[in-house]
Amino acid sequence: MTKLPLNKPNLSTKIADVNFDSYILNASGPRCTTETELHNLGQSDSAAIMTKSCTLVAREGNPEPRYKALPQGSIQSMGLPNLGYKAYLEILPRLTQYNKPIIASISGLSINDNVEMVRAFQQSAADLLEVNFSCPNVPGKPQLGYDFEQTDKALAAITKLGDKPLGIKLPAYFDFNHFETVANILKKYPVKFISSINSIGNTLVIDPETQSPVIKPKAGFGGLCGSYIKPIGLANVNAFRELLPKEISIFGVGGVYTGTDAFEYLLAGADAVQVATCYQEQDVNCFTRIKNELAQLLASKNYQNIDAAKGQLQLL
Ligand code: SIN
Repeated sequence: MTKLPLNKPNLSTKIADVNFDSYILNASGPRCTTETELHNLGQSDSAAIMTKSCTLVAREGNPEPRYKALPQGSIQSMGLPNLGYKAYLEILPRLTQYNKPIIASISGLSINDNVEMVRAFQQSAADLLEVNFSCPNVPGKPQLGYDFEQTDKALAAITKLGDKPLGIKLPAYFDFNHFETVANILKKYPVKFISSINSIGNTLVIDPETQSPVIKPKAGFGGLCGSYIKPIGLANVNAFRELLPKEISIFGVGGVYTGTDAFEYLLAGADAVQVATCYQEQDVNCFTRIKNELAQLLASKNYQNIDAAKGQLQLL
C-alpha cells in the first residue's frame, strides 16, 4: 500500500514578536564563540544565531579538562571563554546576511558590566538580547538568578536601556515558592522572554577508576547538561508558562536531542527550544535532523503548526 505523504507542519514561531523560521536553535554555550562558529550557525538550520555569553573583556575560561561527555549528557565548567563583547559588536553585522534572528548573549560579572554591555548591544545588529543570570562556572561568582534581591536590582538596571527585546537566562528552580518569587520579579519589568534552564550548577561526577572528578575546575564541580536535566527543564518551562503572562516568551533548554524532546517542551508551553549538548556532540546537522523529526511527529498527531500543540499537556 502506498503511504500518503503527511502534510508538513509549519514550524515557524515567534519570540518577543520576532519571527523565527523554526522552533529549534542553538543555545548559548557550545560552538558559538568564534566568528567561524557563528557563520556556521548562520548557514545551518538553526532558527537563529545565538552567541556565546560574553563578558566585558575576553576570557580564556577555566583550565582543562573542563568538558566531559557522559552517557546521557555532559558535565562542563567552561568558565565563559569568549572574545569580549566588543568583538561580538563587530562580528554581528557580518551575520545579518543569513536573514535570521541574531541573539547576543551577555553575562556580566557584575550589574555594572551588564549595564554597559546591554547598553552597547541595544545599539547593535542583534535582534534580541539574552542576559545570562545563571552561569555556575566562574569561581567565586554566585549565580545571580538564585539571589532574588540582586535579580530584581539587575533587572531594574538593564531593562530601561533600549527597545530591543531583552530576556533572561535562568537557572533551574526546584520549589514552587521560588517559581512564584521569580515570576513576580520578572513581571515588574519589561522582560520579553526567558530561557529556562541553564545547566544544573555545581554537580560532581567522579571516575571511580582514577578516583578523581572528571573535570578540573572548581574541584570538579560543574554544570550538568543533557538528558539528565530534561525533566527539570520541562518542569521549569511548565511552571513559568503557568505563572507568566503570554507576552513573555519562553525558550526551553535542557536535554533536547530529538524531535520528541522538542515536542515535550512544546507540550510544556515553550515557544522555541535551544540545543546545547547535542549540538556540541553532533555539530550543525542536529538542527536539520531535530527539525525533521519534530515536523514528522507533529504531522503524525495532526498538528499543523507550533501553536496548535503548544501547551497541550494533558494532566492525568
Ligand atoms: C560556561 O561558559 O561556563 C557556561 C556558561 C553558562 O553556564 O552560562
